[in-house]
Amino acid sequence: MVGPENRKNNIIQALHIYKTFPGVNALSDVSFDLRQGEIHCIVGENGAGKSTFIKILTGSYRPDSGELIVHGKSYKYLTPYLSQTLGIQVIYQENIVVPQMTVAENVFVGREKASRFGLIRYQDTVQATQKIIDSLKIHLDPEAPVEKLSPTEQQFVKIVKSLAYEPRVLILDEPTAMFNVNDVKVVLDLVKDISQRGISVIYISHRLEEISEVADRITVFKDGQIVITHDNPDKNFDLNLLTREMVGRSVETFYKKDKNSIGDVVLEVKNLQLHRHSPTIDFNLRRSEILGIAGLVGSGRTELFRALFGMDRKVGGEVFLRGKPVNIRSPQDSIQAGIGLITEDRHKTGLALNLSVIKNTTIAGLDQYPGGILNLNKEKIDVEHFILDLDIKTPSPHQEVRFLSGGNQQKVVLARWLFKNVDILIFDEPTIGIDVNSKNEIYKLITELAKEGKSIIMVSSELPELIALSDRVLVVKNGRIITELNDQEITEENIISYAFGVTEDGQAEK
Ligand SMILES: Nc1ncnc2c1ncn2[C@@H]1O[C@H](COP(=O)(O)OP(=O)(O)OP(=O)(O)O)[C@@H](O)[C@H]1O
Ligand SMILES: [Mg+2]
Repeated sequence: MVGPENRKNNIIQALHIYKTFPGVNALSDVSFDLRQGEIHCIVGENGAGKSTFIKILTGSYRPDSGELIVHGKSYKYLTPYLSQTLGIQVIYQENIVVPQMTVAENVFVGREKASRFGLIRYQDTVQATQKIIDSLKIHLDPEAPVEKLSPTEQQFVKIVKSLAYEPRVLILDEPTAMFNVNDVKVVLDLVKDISQRGISVIYISHRLEEISEVADRITVFKDGQIVITHDNPDKNFDLNLLTREMVGRSVETFYKKDKNSIGDVVLEVKNLQLHRHSPTIDFNLRRSEILGIAGLVGSGRTELFRALFGMDRKVGGEVFLRGKPVNIRSPQDSIQAGIGLITEDRHKTGLALNLSVIKNTTIAGLDQYPGGILNLNKEKIDVEHFILDLDIKTPSPHQEVRFLSGGNQQKVVLARWLFKNVDILIFDEPTIGIDVNSKNEIYKLITELAKEGKSIIMVSSELPELIALSDRVLVVKNGRIITELNDQEITEENIISYAFGVTEDGQAEK
């Protein structure tokens, strides 16, 4: 129960919010409050209704019924403009920064009317941006073009931009989904700092450890409803309890695969070079092997495999499949050769958002059907099988994927490649945005694929996942493979020290 003394401090109170979409009860009877200066975390499975709730607060969606009380005033719904005027700012993982513009330009873009004189001088925006940066104690050059920044720094730009509106509420929906441990820590510190200024924060993440690190309160969503709100969880808060509440039963949170026997080399990459003057890369991959690729975001891991897949150019190198040279110049060549790339970037390269779950799953694999002839009924049954296996939350296989929650979209990308049935699968951050329970399902699937004789390359920033699944780990730094770790060498410590470039004597490399 919220006592009257707390109610005073409530910045936002949502009361009995309902929201349905065709075939989906996205929110039912959700009552939630946000106190001044608190960090209120929201957790829940993919499709539980977290982002929908946030979109109600930002005015993107109108609730079917219910009430919103913001700063003591009651509203049936908010509009984006009203929400912003009330001091509510949101950062999504996908928020857009304009790469060609500088940090300061990004921070003030669209706000040209903000000054009293109807225009803003560039130097003023630089100064104002610098002031926010200083107050956050981070390093960022307001005049640097955003495209030159690391993904974490780009995330900072979004935070700085939100703060430029002097918000009273800052909402972060999976802000660290693609970060490495160190970067996550920086963002978490920043969030704590922001809340200490009296700004209320709503924080959504599937990484439960980071939740217990920052939360003043934790609210669990399940199937569009609130299960419980935990007050004052401490750092040793029982994460198993939290997953039980999310999933409705206990789940194994630490996946451990059995060792399986590894076969002959299927893929051999020699002297692969992405640009003139860049280092050359050599490695191989065996049948039934899961090869983990570690390295910081921005270390060149993704670029390496995009080039191998024919998505980006390369200047040289040879690729052998079962000893025979192949020339991969396009993704089509790659698929033809039996190599599939499952990207982290579901929006740009993964999905046709306006097509159904069915079409997105089968689009690349129609040759699975005899003579390439599509039997719609068979297609539907095949896809339903994946919907079950991967627990894709959708009212129907015909639903357009743009209506699916973030994590469920990611699962459709996976389904496509599983359907395509290629021999070599490259997974780039396979579990970004995926909830704990589904992660385990995906780990099981990947392990089974390897057992069946497929070969898997898994690029990941999630060390526990790399360690649990990989037979061998290559660590990439500055576009080169700096080490290979086998068996007992595959530890968190080892990976971090190589990826961050700490040398044997504990000194950071120059
Ligand atoms: N515009 C929409 N049209 C139809 N269905 C929608 C729409 N937006 C969300 N949904 C559905 O509402 C449910 C809740 O989705 P929501 O995006 O809120 O989940 P989430 O908790 O944020 O999940 P995730 O962890 O995967 O991001 C899902 O079943 C989703 O498919
Ligand atoms: Mg979401």
